[in-house]
Amino acid sequence: MPINPFNPYFPAHDDLFANRRKEQELFQRALTASTQSSLPGAWNLAVVGPWGIGKTSLLRRFAWAAQMNDPPVGVVSMTATTATDGFDGFARSLLWRIQRDLTANPRLNEGVRNELAKWEPKVNLGPISVSRRASKELSAESGVDLLYAELSRLWNQHITGRLAAVLIFIDDANNLLEVDAKALLSLRAVFQDLQGHRMTYPLIITGPEDMFEATRDVSEPVTRFFERLPIGPFSRQDTDEAIVEPLKAVNHPLRVLPSAIDAVYARTLGHPYFASFSMRELVNAADILSLSKIDGQFVESHWSLVAERMGEEKFAAEWNQATDGEREVLGFVAQNLPMSQGKRSASALASRLVNKGLLVKRGRGQYALYHPLFAEYVRIHKVDR
Ligand SMILES: Nc1ncnc2c1ncn2[C@@H]1O[C@H](COP(=O)(O)OP(=O)(O)OP(=O)(O)O)[C@@H](O)[C@H]1O
Ligand SMILES: [Mg+2]
Repeated sequence: MPINPFNPYFPAHDDLFANRRKEQELFQRALTASTQSSLPGAWNLAVVGPWGIGKTSLLRRFAWAAQMNDPPVGVVSMTATTATDGFDGFARSLLWRIQRDLTANPRLNEGVRNELAKWEPKVNLGPISVSRRASKELSAESGVDLLYAELSRLWNQHITGRLAAVLIFIDDANNLLEVDAKALLSLRAVFQDLQGHRMTYPLIITGPEDMFEATRDVSEPVTRFFERLPIGPFSRQDTDEAIVEPLKAVNHPLRVLPSAIDAVYARTLGHPYFASFSMRELVNAADILSLSKIDGQFVESHWSLVAERMGEEKFAAEWNQATDGEREVLGFVAQNLPMSQGKRSASALASRLVNKGLLVKRGRGQYALYHPLFAEYVRIHKVDR
């Protein structure tokens, strides 16, 4: 059986990546600017958007483009996690990651790689496994100082004259805010100073749209430091590419007719996760029947199967994390009924649901479920029974 290229749980990489042309052009322009020594090379990008919208996929695409750049640049990628000992722990991990990624980069010539291998981060904040208590005793600046000192040493002793820039990609940067509410400010402090001294370390991060607002009192300088690149759902044309290109990339013989793409687009509204999820199920169904093409009618007749799997894999867990009161509100909103029918304070419940990402605010007192497919799930499984 041919390979099914759709996997909604895995960020799209290289061959399976489609569209996002505008974003890629913007990145390419910034990259070119940073490798021209006549210009101040500093620029920082924050790819922001809701879950599953394609932030990680796009970040990896950018890293890939940077990897392919001529002249070669350094590329460092890491995912921020909440399982780190504050900003200090993050600073340590980042330094190790920089060392590893720079010396493992096959695009850099051997001379440059050997030179970079001479640098080893001097992480002297104590042993890696500092105890919780010990780590609390470290002052808030120490991670900032360490990062600045080590990245300057790296630049001045090993990078300058060899590489035009070292790009640092941090996925899910919002996780840092959970371990240190001022983490983004600390990051900005370090990189702004480095960039101010002509050490070209552009920073590219991802996170939810409200990542900067989360620390309202400190957010303003951080907001100005990053150029925001908000990403949204695919257009009809983007959806077409995201369906056709991955099949082509793995030489899958199935033809997806325009009417089928229309149907998938109408159901998913171009949301990358849902589009990928639907296509995984539809391609599996077509393969079992050994079909050579599928049309809109096929999508419609198999949709209940797709919806059922989505319910099991995604919506059930979301429904289960809502309290009884919240479920009542979800039920009303899903049916387009006024929320005030509920007994409890509907607006407080609604704002909790917004925080959980299950509701989105459309206007004053106006809400919708975060996606019509979830609304359909709530109507069919929870309200009508
Ligand atoms: N440009 C793209 N081309 C093809 N498929 C894509 C693209 N972007 C996203 N997808 C699909 O959408 C799914 C979700 O994308 P991704 O994991 O990049 O989103 P995310 O915004 O990082 O999600 P999360 O908020 O969970 O971190 C991927 O598994 C992939 O199948
Ligand atoms: Mg992601």
